[in-house]
Amino acid sequence: MKSKLLHISTIGCQMNVYDANQIAGVLAPLGYTGTDAIETADMVIVNTCTIREKAEQKAFSLLGRLAKIKIANPSLIVAVGGCVAQQEGEAIIKRMPHVDMVFGTHAIFRLPEMVRRIESTRCRIVDVRLSETIDVDDPVTGPLTDGQVSAFVTIMRGCDNYCTYCVVPHVRGRESSRHPDRILEEVRTRVAQGVREVTLLGQNVNSYGNKEGLCSFAELLTRVNTIGGLHRIRFTTSHPKDLSDDLMRTFGRLEKLCNHIHLPVQSGDDGILKRMNRKYTRSAYLEKIAGLRAVSPDIAITSDFIVGFPGETDRQFQATLDLIESVRYDGLFAFMYSDRPSAPSAAFSGKIAEPVKKERLQALLNLQEGITREKHQAMVGRTLRVLVEGPSRGLKPDDPAIAASQIQWSGRSSSNHIIHFAVPEDFLAKKELLTGAFADIMIEGAYAHSLWGRLINGPMNTAQGKGETTIAA
Ligand code: 5AD
Ligand code: SF4
Repeated sequence: MKSKLLHISTIGCQMNVYDANQIAGVLAPLGYTGTDAIETADMVIVNTCTIREKAEQKAFSLLGRLAKIKIANPSLIVAVGGCVAQQEGEAIIKRMPHVDMVFGTHAIFRLPEMVRRIESTRCRIVDVRLSETIDVDDPVTGPLTDGQVSAFVTIMRGCDNYCTYCVVPHVRGRESSRHPDRILEEVRTRVAQGVREVTLLGQNVNSYGNKEGLCSFAELLTRVNTIGGLHRIRFTTSHPKDLSDDLMRTFGRLEKLCNHIHLPVQSGDDGILKRMNRKYTRSAYLEKIAGLRAVSPDIAITSDFIVGFPGETDRQFQATLDLIESVRYDGLFAFMYSDRPSAPSAAFSGKIAEPVKKERLQALLNLQEGITREKHQAMVGRTLRVLVEGPSRGLKPDDPAIAASQIQWSGRSSSNHIIHFAVPEDFLAKKELLTGAFADIMIEGAYAHSLWGRLINGPMNTAQGKGETTIAA
């Protein structure tokens, strides 16, 4: 079979990264192999996101570029997938003559058939059908990239929470959980391929299985924890309202579960939380944080925030800053509110002016930057075990840890901190020896966005305890 080049451009969340991998997986049997070069590809798939206005703009600007590329290469197949495709459907095909195919969030498994039809007849296709359950679309695992040590595994799809600002329930459909046996099978496949860590994905993993009467999420974690050869488990995202005591206790009970939780709060004000339809109060959220810290005192906690939700007053924004001060997050993502066409809050009154949103965003980020800096500083002198992900990317030549005789690496701690460390060139310069191994790193330098350290123990083959040292520095 003739080999054809496929470029997938992924914008947005981890779910999209997972979907892109599945797209690559389902198209491989048709002879498509991945390429980074957009200009020489036979097919380009823009895997879009519509969660915020900016993400959607990015997708349309890439589609604009593709119109020009297609003039130079008329046989190029241009496809649009993901949430923008789901939302806009037919309108994209009508507006953009260079687009051959629009496929929604539930159509990935129908792709081979659609692509075959386009290849043979050059027809144009739109498929944005949504199905009720996820298991009818039997997922396949796509290829891993060279040296990939961690993989995503989707455990559920869609969302039933209907936060008023959010487009997800409208573009990803109803919440539907995969059967635990299928999930375990996929994790085992990844482990057999060499992966050390998995991140279980869902819009709200805490409600996993509830609707279908499958096992609880805590039970699922317990089962995944027994898989031999798997060293670490992460999950995202958690809705605070569904974070049960049982689930909190897994942080003390399951040795493979990483010591980090992403628990988006969005706002620190009860009035705003109510109008966001988040279904918890500030004090209920703080109780969950206290519960987590009671089980695991040094658990890393991160969150998402929206600033400038319609009607947000200065006092309400201040309540968000106060919450950040009291929780002292290890990191956060903050976004300026943007109207999404199908989200109810688009019709709310009291829209906040852009400059005010910008100001609030900056104030929030400044506050967190100070907290992160202090927390990073407190880590200096501590030794953390990292899973080595590979040579550090994107380091600037004047970064403090770069010395001429040393190779730079990076790894991730259980708390999800990225730690750069130096290895003497004559000690271990071969990428394949260190990537995927565990190593103990003593933190020596703390900066606003990164941590630096020295390899003091490793590489080794275990995420737990003291580990068996094969090479000591
Ligand atoms: N405007 C701004 N941010 C949003 N998010 C979701 N919808 C919107 C919106 N309309 C943010 C939330 C969510 C994250 C993935 O994106 O913080 O947790
Ligand atoms: Fe959107 Fe809320 Fe569902 Fe998260 S829980 S995907 S914010 S509706």
